[in-house]
Amino acid sequence: MKSILSLALAFGVIVLGSSGCYYDVDDELNPKDTTSICDTAAMDYASIRSVFDNGTCLNCHSGANADAGLDLSTYAGTSQYLNSSASTLIDRITVGSTGDIMPPSGPKLNDCNVSKTRAWINAGFPQ
Ligand code: HEC
Repeated sequence: MKSILSLALAFGVIVLGSSGCYYDVDDELNPKDTTSICDTAAMDYASIRSVFDNGTCLNCHSGANADAGLDLSTYAGTSQYLNSSASTLIDRITVGSTGDIMPPSGPKLNDCNVSKTRAWINAGFPQ
């Protein structure tokens, strides 16, 4: 009787132990914390326009009276600027060594949005 009990106990430990491992693997394969994932693949102008919009860039860089004559609200305006000054735009949202970091006041673009913008520009800013 005693040996059957300890056998059942050992079996229970094995089952519980291995199901614990199973959940560990599952957590790794299906991470529940998605905030640390920044997907910079397949960026197009629409993705970047929403980055600029949420980053408040379009409050100032939009339409005929856009600050610095830089209209980021259309693909035409954005690509025209990037053709000559892609590195300036990246500089203005990161270190700001060519002028004030953008936006000039309020929160800067977060790291993920900077990465997305950089990836899009490095890919040749596809429409
Ligand atoms: C509050 C208004 C305002 C906001 C918001 C703003 N900018 Fe600007 N931006 C300006 C002004 C004014 C200038 C011109 C003065 C200067 O160069 O600093 C400028 C200049 C620039 C330049 C340099 C243009 C040139 O002369 O080559 C870039 C690039 C730029 N902004 C990008 C951005 C981006 C990207 C964002 C959003 C992350 C942004 N700006 C948000 C007002 C703004």
